[in-house]
Amino acid sequence: MREIRVFEDPGVAVADRLSEVAEGGGQIVLTGGSTPRGAYALAAQIDADWSRATVWFSDERMVRPDHPDSNFAMASKALLSRLTRPPTIVRIPGELGADAAAGAYEALLRERMGSDPRFDLILLGLGPDSHVASLFPGKPELDEHARFAAPVPLAGMDPQVPRVTLTYPVLNGAREVDFLVAGADKADAVARAFGDPPDPDAPASRVRTTAGSMFVFLDEAAAARL
Ligand code: 6PG
Repeated sequence: MREIRVFEDPGVAVADRLSEVAEGGGQIVLTGGSTPRGAYALAAQIDADWSRATVWFSDERMVRPDHPDSNFAMASKALLSRLTRPPTIVRIPGELGADAAAGAYEALLRERMGSDPRFDLILLGLGPDSHVASLFPGKPELDEHARFAAPVPLAGMDPQVPRVTLTYPVLNGAREVDFLVAGADKADAVARAFGDPPDPDAPASRVRTTAGSMFVFLDEAAAARL
């Protein structure tokens, strides 16, 4: 099941959804980039009880956790450190470098989520090249089906630092995937990822939950070419 929803501020709907799943003690995957910052700030204002929830990350840049490019740092500053009842946080250790960080994250995923991980909610963004998490067009990580977390030695976009990313088997196994995309500079990528027909070379077009729901939350500018 996939549904596209257009809002004046799609971040409001995402903040509500995150708060609901957190209250239910869900396993939640947050994403990086700049778009979710507003949604995270709104969720911090809601200040739901996240204490039974666990927060993971879709991908991470290989920098220290206090670095301005760190996805963890952004989510922590905008949301996690502001919550009265914070969740358990499983971050990707960017300071270890891509191979070691992917290995460490994989081990935690297998230990806590089992051999067939089914997250309650995975939040994702979309790059202007239609990348998702750190799955960039034409890169070998797109074909990784054995590992849950893959090292990405060459990022397809700035910041040009190695990354670690969740792979399609994890993304597509989720109970719910929510995309949050805003801005006119994403309209082409949105059309490639979610248009009819989608472009198979657009990494985001290959996110299709096998037994879950998928919601695409857009603002009007991002939805303009659908
Ligand atoms: C990252 C992300 C990435 C992001 C998109 C969109 O580490 O960069 O997790 O997949 O969601 O690049 O980013 P913006 O919101 O900054 O455009």
